[in-house]
Amino acid sequence: MQPLIRIENMNKVYNPGENEVRALDGVSLQIMQGEFAAIIGHSGSGKSTLMNMIGCLDAPTSGKYFLNGRDVSGMNDRELSIVRNEEIGFIFQGFNLIANLDAIGNVELPLIYRGIDRRNRREVSKEALRLVGLQGRMKHRPAEMSGGQQQRVAVARAIAAKPPIILADEPTGNLDSHSTEEIMNILKELHRNGRTIIVITHDADIASQAKRVIKIKDGRIEADSLNS
Ligand SMILES: Nc1ncnc2c1ncn2[C@@H]1O[C@H](COP(=O)(O)OP(=O)(O)OP(=O)(O)O)[C@@H](O)[C@H]1O
Ligand SMILES: [Mg+2]
Repeated sequence: MQPLIRIENMNKVYNPGENEVRALDGVSLQIMQGEFAAIIGHSGSGKSTLMNMIGCLDAPTSGKYFLNGRDVSGMNDRELSIVRNEEIGFIFQGFNLIANLDAIGNVELPLIYRGIDRRNRREVSKEALRLVGLQGRMKHRPAEMSGGQQQRVAVARAIAAKPPIILADEPTGNLDSHSTEEIMNILKELHRNGRTIIVITHDADIASQAKRVIKIKDGRIEADSLNS
């Protein structure tokens, strides 16, 4: 079986020259379809940079990246945005919802870019919101929901189009322990259903719930182990 994600000797240098930051320093990494991996490491170690690369949000300075067998390392912005749309659902710490759209409008938004027609969009969005337990909040705007509910809208948005990969950067960083557990339960359920889940976290308890823990230090992989 070929890996879903195959990164070879990836480097990312911000501000090349005098003030350069080597955020990724020769990272090689393989993740198979259906894995549930946590990426941990201190602040500034390169976790979000790695997520941006895995998620095709930014291009590496050098190195190779094969996503689902496709070489994406040489792609331009337009090509990358197509790959992102097809392969990846993103969840961020700050939810990143549109304030003047209700829950269903937020979940629908990326589906518009996928060219899904209006009726299907509604159906798919409602289904995703039901899955995260928000059937009663579909018409609520972000300001009318709790933090945990807003993050569940963001999860629904990430999963609505059923992308094979879910990338989450500190998805529970702004949540209380109850909402954190709810979000983790949703991610675990998605994992059971065959999705590949990659979660960046500072939280040892969250990392312990993943199957695999990848530790980054100074832009390098310091440890990579399986949880028992
Ligand atoms: N756009 C950028 N321009 C310049 N330097 C950057 C940029 N983004 C990140 N960096 C630097 O790259 C390094 C890695 O940053 P990154 O955001 O990947 O860390 P992180 O592990 O996600 O940290 P945190 O846990 O605080 O979110 C840091 O030293 C940071 O200052
Ligand atoms: Mg970060």
